[in-house]
Formats: sequence, C-alpha cells, structure tokens
Amino acid sequence: MTHKLLILPGDGIGPEIVAEALKVLQVLKHEFDFGFEAEQGLIGGAAFDVDGHPLPRATLDLARDCDAVLLGAVGGPQYEACPRELRPERGLLGLRYELGLFANLRPALLYPRLAAASALKPELVAGLDLMIVRELTGGIYFGEPRGIRTHNSGEREGVNTLSYRESEIERVARSAFDIAMCRDKRLCSVDKANVLEVSELWREVVQRVAADYPQVQLTHMYVDNAAMQLVRAPTQFDVLLTDNMFGDILSDAAAQLTGSIGMLPSASLNAERKGLYEPVHGSAPDIAGKGLANPLATILSVAMMLRYSLNEPELAVRLQTAVGRVLDQGLRTPDIYARGDQRASTAQMGDAVVLALREGQRE
Ligand code: NAD
Ligand code: IPM
Ligand code: MN
Repeated sequence: MTHKLLILPGDGIGPEIVAEALKVLQVLKHEFDFGFEAEQGLIGGAAFDVDGHPLPRATLDLARDCDAVLLGAVGGPQYEACPRELRPERGLLGLRYELGLFANLRPALLYPRLAAASALKPELVAGLDLMIVRELTGGIYFGEPRGIRTHNSGEREGVNTLSYRESEIERVARSAFDIAMCRDKRLCSVDKANVLEVSELWREVVQRVAADYPQVQLTHMYVDNAAMQLVRAPTQFDVLLTDNMFGDILSDAAAQLTGSIGMLPSASLNAERKGLYEPVHGSAPDIAGKGLANPLATILSVAMMLRYSLNEPELAVRLQTAVGRVLDQGLRTPDIYARGDQRASTAQMGDAVVLALREGQRE
C-alpha cells in the first residue's frame, strides 16, 4: 500500500523542521516497509513570493488528492504589510476550511524527562496527558460579517463575528466524545456560556450529544477558569473540547506545560479522517535558519499522521517511543535545555530520532 503525502514546509523554521520529519519518513520507508510517495507544495509566504497567493490552486489540488498533509508553519514579519486576504495565515486557514478539517487534536503530553523544562513545578505536571479537541473551521475565525469599516465620522471599527451552527458544534463534540471513549472517558467542554449566546447553544448541543456517550463523564467549564486550572492543576483534565479561538489560546498554554511549544504536535481531521498534520507552534522567525528549532513537534505530528490518517498505529508507537528515547538520552534543543543536558541542533535532534527508531527495531 502506497500512501500519498503532501509536504508543505512553509515559512520561517518550517523548512528546517519538516526536513527532519522527512528524514524520519525516509527511514520508515526504507527500513520499516512504510510505503509512501510525497509531493512538495507551496503555502503561506513561500507561496505568496512565487505565486502571489498564500494558497495556490495547485497546492489545494494536491491537498485534495493526497491521503494526508504534513505542514511546517506559515507567517513572518516580512508579510505583515500584505493585504489581509493574502497574508500567509490566510493560506493555512483556507486549507483547513477547504478540506473541511473541523476537528483539531492537540495532545499535551509530558515526557517525564522534560518535567524540569516545564514552566510549572514538576509535581504539578507529573503524568500530564491531556487532549485538546479544538473546533477548526468555524467560529470567530470564519464568521461573517468581518472587516474594518469606516464610519461617517471617519472613525474606523473592526468587526468579527462569532457564530456556530448546531451541526458544527455537534460534529466536533462527537469527535471529542469518540476520543474520550479511547482515553479516560472524561470530557470537559470549555465555553463562555455565562456571557455568550453562542456558548449557551454550544453547551446545549454538547449535552445533547452526551446522551449517546453514557460512559463519558461530561463537565463544563468557563474559559477563564479553564485557563487558570490549566496552570494550577493541569492533570485534572483528560479531554478538553473548545471552540476555534479558545482552543488556539489554551493549546499554546498547554504546550508550555510540556516543556516547550516545540513539543506539541497536532492533527486536523475531516469527516473522512483525511488530515493535516502540523506542529502547534508557528514559524518562529526569531530563530529561523539557525538550527535552533525543536523538530520534535513536527516529528510527533508524523506519528499522529500514522495513527489517524494512515492506519499505521504500530509505526506511530515506534516513532513516539523513539522520541522518548532521545529525550531519555538527554539530548535537547535550546527550548528544552536545562543544566546538565546535551545540546543538540535541529538536525542533530532529527538524526537522533532516526537512530533511536533503528535501535528500537533491533530490539
Ligand atoms: P511562534 O509559535 O512562531 O513562536 C513563539 C515563540 O516560541 C518564539 O519565541 C519561538 O522562537 C518559539 N518557538 C516556536 N516554535 C519553536 C520550536 N519548534 N523550537 C523552539 N522554539 C520555538 O509564534 P509567534 O511568534 O506568535 O508567531 C510567528 C509567526 O508564526 C506569525 O506570523 C504567526 O502568524 C505564525 N504562526 C503560524 C502558525 C502555523 O503555521 N500553524 C502557528 C502560530 C503562529
Ligand atoms: C495555530 C495558529 C493559527 C491559528 C494561525 C497561524 C492562523 O496560531 O495553528 O494555532 O490561529 O489557528
Ligand atoms: Mn495558535
């Protein structure tokens, strides 16, 4: 079986971290019998520079035609002056929307050896293993009307619209319940139902879906409290269900609990389980091109791809185990470095994962 992959390196550190993920994919192909063909495409600023658009038609066609997409990151300060619709981020949002990738899975897992790198005390993050399920194709990111309008007085007003249809809430809620069923069966739905009508409907629909999942313990939490609980006692959570914007914010916070945003992978799935796989972090322009970026979030995104879109759960476990082994060896990019660790560049980290995969195979 040959899987068709689309590789979109993007901007900033994107190409560096994707290069390490490709090393891993090559080893899986040549030494683990994982059949795939990969095409490369342009997205974000890299696409804008060549085609004048952050999501060229050719990229979208390739994305529609493949089994899974691996993406680095998009964006950078040089594109801030671009017209809004042509900014790199719009390319990524367009891809998510066009492929219908409504369920965004962002697991925050603490590798035990990284406890010292966490922003929280080790005893608060010991055993941390939570999954954020973020709605990804609706809410305030896509709501209409939107724009900046000018009043007669000359004063300008920025407008974005938060709206969700019941069907949009229901499908992502089902994804979250399904995931909870495979985990500890605890789901916390995050909203702002004390203020927002959209959240009131969100809560009602989630409760309705819960009737189909009697084994899952459902709770609700306001987003401000959820942010606080995440940094107070994060291990209380199993699965968190959020709308598009709350999930964006909470997942960066959750990332830091695991040591670094350079550790957090993601999967964005549609109804057919086709997926876009990308690290949660951005293009990190401040460290791009210096060999400082942590490639593990991207490599772990490959593991999620193997699991969720390509039906290769054993390879996914092998890859995750290899990452754990590299961390056990004490190898660290600067974002997760603590005194006594061994410093590694982006490429050295990728090479170490490849080596650990091979060692794992021999055992
Ligand atoms: P960022 O995630 O790019 O960077 C935040 C901080 O984390 C920076 O200090 C950066 O150096 C560090 N960091 C990020 N990834 C790292 C890694 N792998 N290893 C080590 N350190 C890492 O967020 P930002 O600075 O707010 O945004 C920069 C650009 O990226 C913006 O244009 C933004 O729109 C874009 N962005 C893109 C995505 C995406 O493509 N999915 C996600 C978030 C932000
Ligand atoms: C993310 C990013 C994106 C988002 C941006 C780059 C559009 O922050 O994937 O978390 O807000 O969804
Ligand atoms: Mn984000």
